[in-house]
Amino acid sequence: MSRSVLSVNDLSRAEIGEVLDRALETKRRSDRRSSELAGKTALLIFQKPSLRTRVSFELAVTNLGGQALYLSPPEVGLGERESPEDVGGVAGRYCDLIICRTFDQSNLDRLAAASGVPVVNALSDWEHPCQALADVLTIREHGGTSGRTLTYVGDGNNVVRSLAIAAAGEGMHVRVASPSGYELDEASVAEAAERAAGSEGSVSLFSDPVEAVDGADVVYTDTWTSMGQEVEAKQRLEAFTGYQVDARLVAQASRGASVMHCLPAHRGEEITDEVLDGPQSVVLDQAENRLHAQQALLAWLFG
Ligand code: CP
Repeated sequence: MSRSVLSVNDLSRAEIGEVLDRALETKRRSDRRSSELAGKTALLIFQKPSLRTRVSFELAVTNLGGQALYLSPPEVGLGERESPEDVGGVAGRYCDLIICRTFDQSNLDRLAAASGVPVVNALSDWEHPCQALADVLTIREHGGTSGRTLTYVGDGNNVVRSLAIAAAGEGMHVRVASPSGYELDEASVAEAAERAAGSEGSVSLFSDPVEAVDGADVVYTDTWTSMGQEVEAKQRLEAFTGYQVDARLVAQASRGASVMHCLPAHRGEEITDEVLDGPQSVVLDQAENRLHAQQALLAWLFG
């Protein structure tokens, strides 16, 4: 039976632990190649631009002995030129794995239901589960997860939705600070709280970023205007005034706290150059860990 990862919730806490253990083990090796995808083809269907996700998935497939084919945003017309069911059904006849970046999460759900092969969410407007795996891996490497506090400052978007569930499941105390109207939705908070209940973590919402960052071990932010929201950019800039992760805000966190950002960043908006390029920033480790986390996930799916 094919197993898809369309949401962080498609992986149990134990399974995330297995994948991340495997990622760390592989990352430490000098030769990271293996053969879980030998003779197999992965199709990357991307409806939005990408640097990290595309490159890390293509390298992961190659490292596992498989072949990756990339289809760029104008090529497939998922949900426009063809229905997600038709795209999934056809792609599943050619390929052993589909890695898809899209806007609407329902495109992924429908494509996966029709494809008959594993489908991995490479970002939708609702979730970014592979980013969350890499982020938790990075936090594990920079001081650990369980019992530590992760504060996310910014938009209650796809990145924090996946991150809150994954980090709460690792026993972290997750705080999310957002302005009114841009909070993480109640259902996602409930899902994160359910994960936290099994791991002695917690999840809480704040409106005051200074209060949320107080004593935090990790400070995380993301762009205020995600791909597809460009028409809202001016309104969002106004709404997020006071939520910038700058040196003054980071000074409220614990000494030596890690600063995270999934990139790409809108420098000077959600984060300053000084912080993004500063000594507490672990953003390049995060970006590198996309490869290790995703390679481990694919090896686990096909192992
Ligand atoms: N963080 C992330 O998903 O980056 P890309 O959009 O470059 O893939």
